[in-house]
Amino acid sequence: MSVLRESWWIRDVEVPSRVVLAPMAGVSVQAFRRQGRRFGAGLVCSEMVSCAGIEHRNEKTLGYLRVASDEHPLAIQIFGSDPRMMAEAGRMVEAAGADIVDMNFGCPVRKVTKTGAGAHLIEDPALACAITEAVANAVSVPVSVKMRRGVEDGSRKCLELGPQLVEAGAAVLTLHPRSAKQMYTGYADHTLTAELVSLVDVPVIASGDVTSRAKAESVLDATGAAAVMVGRAAQGNPWAIQEIVFGDDAQPSREEVAAELIHFVRETVRELGERRASGFLKKFYAWYLGHGRFPKPFKNELVQLHSTEEVVTRLLAAAPGAAALVEELERNVPESEVLLEGMPISIYGGG
Ligand SMILES: Cc1cc2nc3c(=O)[nH]c(=O)nc-3n(C[C@H](O)[C@H](O)[C@H](O)COP(=O)(O)O)c2cc1C
Repeated sequence: MSVLRESWWIRDVEVPSRVVLAPMAGVSVQAFRRQGRRFGAGLVCSEMVSCAGIEHRNEKTLGYLRVASDEHPLAIQIFGSDPRMMAEAGRMVEAAGADIVDMNFGCPVRKVTKTGAGAHLIEDPALACAITEAVANAVSVPVSVKMRRGVEDGSRKCLELGPQLVEAGAAVLTLHPRSAKQMYTGYADHTLTAELVSLVDVPVIASGDVTSRAKAESVLDATGAAAVMVGRAAQGNPWAIQEIVFGDDAQPSREEVAAELIHFVRETVRELGERRASGFLKKFYAWYLGHGRFPKPFKNELVQLHSTEEVVTRLLAAAPGAAALVEELERNVPESEVLLEGMPISIYGGG
């Protein structure tokens, strides 16, 4: 059996495969995470959630903390630069049901770094460690940190910071070895991941450019990382996860693609409401229907439609066999647990 299907542990949290679904802002909604688990990801992660938004009980932010029973194990990622606020956010995230509290020390976007958060923290080890320690002390679940190699091209700052973060209480580290400056250009230099693995005694997750089973195996072999993280390759393409974890490279039929997309649309509408979901979903149409699965004009047509119901109708017309598959998918979905409703009113914003 390939190592990719083996489980591993983050302290007392068992992760049933070596593939972690990446946190992606504007992508990693609950439907995406549930789908990732269904296709074989051992661990899924929410997109980055602002600790200030949590502190201010911002309703949209709190929406990110909805956890369903079929997502576990699940990490919820928080970002911020104030240790006290991050600790408080960590407590909320744990109360919401996260198995791991993940911290974002890698976001390269200026709006985030100029507040001292995200990738800025790789350049500010004292603050990075203070945050890690505060969060680790505030929660009983394991805490993890996800970082880039550094801010500047060629930076190796992550190798200095990694061991300090472990000392401060991080139970797992994820490295995306591009610089913040690089954004998504160039390639992820996993020789740094290998160096980080040799420097720390906690599991390391390798993130960046893992798009196939062959690549996943070569990254695990070359780095000694405990797991690989898959991001862009899984956008509108959960079959990539299946290929990586199980070696199952059968291409989905049109009906399967349409069924997954319809299910994803419906779940997302339930999560975000029709108004937010209809804009949010547009990028997914191209992602799902690309790869030569449907003709280009069809994708363009879907993007023009006004309601998600029209999108579903159009997909069913193009692939009638999808209807039975969608029913099957809907039957197997457990009710979503909106744990926030069970929280004290002061947490949910009332008091
Ligand atoms: C649209 C998008 C949004 C992302 N948002 C986050 C985020 O919220 N938190 C985070 O730690 N990384 C985020 N990332 C980075 C990914 O988690 C991952 O590290 C990166 O995409 C490299 O992996 P890949 O080559 O498999 O995509 C994002 C990436 C993309 C493409």
